[in-house]
Amino acid sequence: MQATTATPRTWPEGGITRVPAWIYSDEEIFRKELTTFFSGDTWSFVGLECEIPDVGSFKRAWMGDKQVIVVRDEDGINVVENRCAHRGGAICWKNSGEVKDLTCVYHQWNYSLKGELRGIPLKRGVHGAGGMPEDFDASKHNLRRLRVTVRGGAVWASFSNTVPEFADYCGPELLKRLDRLLSGRPLRMLGVSRQLIPSNWKLYFENTRDPYHGTLLHTFFITFGLYRADSKHITSPTESGKHSCNYAVPGDRSKGEDITNELTRFRGDLQLNDMETVRYFDEYGDGEMSAMQVFPSVFVQQHANILAMRSIVPKSTREVEVIWTYFGYADDDEHLQRIRLKQSNLLGPSGFVSMDDSELLKQMQNQVAGYPGSVGVVEMGGHGTETQVTMATEVGIRAFYDYYRREMSL
Ligand SMILES: [Fe+2]
Repeated sequence: MQATTATPRTWPEGGITRVPAWIYSDEEIFRKELTTFFSGDTWSFVGLECEIPDVGSFKRAWMGDKQVIVVRDEDGINVVENRCAHRGGAICWKNSGEVKDLTCVYHQWNYSLKGELRGIPLKRGVHGAGGMPEDFDASKHNLRRLRVTVRGGAVWASFSNTVPEFADYCGPELLKRLDRLLSGRPLRMLGVSRQLIPSNWKLYFENTRDPYHGTLLHTFFITFGLYRADSKHITSPTESGKHSCNYAVPGDRSKGEDITNELTRFRGDLQLNDMETVRYFDEYGDGEMSAMQVFPSVFVQQHANILAMRSIVPKSTREVEVIWTYFGYADDDEHLQRIRLKQSNLLGPSGFVSMDDSELLKQMQNQVAGYPGSVGVVEMGGHGTETQVTMATEVGIRAFYDYYRREMSL
């Protein structure tokens, strides 16, 4: 392997205000991130309860490089590793569907919806020959079961037996913001989109913690009135930088519900044929727009009237899959459902706003991989990791690397 840098795996001077480029292309670092974070002492978002409404409904999810099956039985929701206890084959090959039990296609080993091994074909052999030994104990060969927490309609799973309970893992501030959107009010699935972004997962992570680029890169926001100039933008890294809450609260709420009128337009000559795509209303009654990063797996977003979970699945040093799960509330009327779907055109693989990020991150990956010895500067908003009330800050990125360096011993 070509030397990645003159001083391999040494963090540059300047601490968390500097980010070395080699962390975006180093294979060993990537393997360590998968075990430390995605299979480590963390909780990962694996789906919404409403995605698997009936007994036997399942979905496949990824926790880093590991696949899991999220499946409902009579007692609730189970999350099991998608890996046969026999030879390790993937049991579930589909992203969603209905099953009576879980059966590996290779040798038909069969498991209950809780992952208990129930059936082994030819266990007693054929005509007295072959088969499993008498002392084979099937109960020791179940699918690996993960810890599961269901909160407000979202399902979280962990490989770890030592990670704190989900609420403690999140901490009070993040939990409060999650509960605002996922309050227990029944949810309704609106759709899923997937995209493979040719960039390191951390570049995507940084992007979702970076309010600084918001109105600079995404001119659509300003052109079509989705940026409110009098809002206060808060970036609050929580739990020592592990998670992040980013939200905008209105500066003056006396102006009524339609808050798209008063905005400065980037280009007055551009029009949208369907303004319903950008016209939103304050459904929570607090005027806020909110986004939470629950490390390491998901970015939970309420933008205008869009509600979306962005699952982050690192595929390699230079590829990240982003799975967008759009949802609403079960009691939304038809009008609100339509509004949510229309506004969802802003996000996702070809979203009017999100496609800027995907394209940009692709460029960024080429740059950082081509100059592994180079160093990024993150000093906007100072040198610290404390909550800031401004868009002109990179505190979310600094706080993330503060946490990251501790966990990765870098
Ligand atoms: Fe962006």
